[in-house]
Amino acid sequence: MMEAQTARMQIPEPQDVTTGATPLLDVRGVSMRYHASGGAMLTALADVNLTVAAGEFVALVGPSGCGKSTLLALVAGLEEPAAGTIALHGDAGARRLGRAGYMPQRDLLLPWRRALDNATAGLEAQGVSRRVARQRAHAIFADFGLDGFERAYPSTLSGGMRQRVAFARTVLAGGDLLLLDEPFGALDALTRAGLQRWLLDVWERLKMSCLLVTHDVEEALLLADRIYVLSPRPGHVQLERRVPLARPRQPEMLAQPDILALKAELLAALSEGMEVNGTPMVADRRMEAAQ
Ligand SMILES: Nc1ncnc2c1ncn2[C@@H]1O[C@H](COP(=O)(O)OP(=O)(O)O)[C@@H](O)[C@H]1O
Ligand SMILES: [Mg+2]
Repeated sequence: MMEAQTARMQIPEPQDVTTGATPLLDVRGVSMRYHASGGAMLTALADVNLTVAAGEFVALVGPSGCGKSTLLALVAGLEEPAAGTIALHGDAGARRLGRAGYMPQRDLLLPWRRALDNATAGLEAQGVSRRVARQRAHAIFADFGLDGFERAYPSTLSGGMRQRVAFARTVLAGGDLLLLDEPFGALDALTRAGLQRWLLDVWERLKMSCLLVTHDVEEALLLADRIYVLSPRPGHVQLERRVPLARPRQPEMLAQPDILALKAELLAALSEGMEVNGTPMVADRRMEAAQ
């Protein structure tokens, strides 16, 4: 089964083929296991290969529980892989913790801190003084549509504003790579659309690289330069595709025939190996038994 999957996988080139430059992020052969209940081991990721070039926006889609959050935590340096390497700027040996701006799936703001002081939390954790951290946060608050809300407590802000405070914290603390774990997951459609547009704008202005986790193929198509589809757990790269859309992007572009065809291909890859009529496919079970 692994052979068949490997043959189908589009393993990215170790170097960015367009520029020949070392990718900003290079994930190679990464596997991850967790201790499950009863002393068993649970394989969350199996032999994942993935790159993000400098300035690139990459989306990672996959079914729930396939290891997307695990992969982001690994890249952020919060976990170490069971096998494989993760290199930032070509250096697989360097410490990763604190080098990327990481926004976890449930990035809760501290309710007792005002918006500005929530945004400074990452900087302060890095040892920056509160005074300097506040100055830096203040300088970007207008860009994040938070001007005038510096002293507001999280409970008084809308969901979209809370996400922007969390995002400001991520951008302030991060280096040149943003790791965003389903940042729009809990928001209503209108807020979501507004924030997607806003994220693209910020990303273009800051010229950062971005690895965005989403379970929404349309969101991936609208935002990303490239998309990876992960299989159900244990997650491995099922498909990798470039999005042939110019920027700035408009939601209407998703109706183009070539994009509709790409969407169908991504959705087909996404549904591969997923439950059919509530029964996991046999191959998936065999995989588990082999671990
Ligand atoms: N700390 C952990 N300990 C044990 N199992 C975990 C841990 N974190 C995640 N898992 C398991 O690993 C698998 C992948 O989880 P996750 O990365 O959160 O998936 P996704 O983000 O794609 O929904 C799931 O089966 C989950 O239950
Ligand atoms: Mg997750």
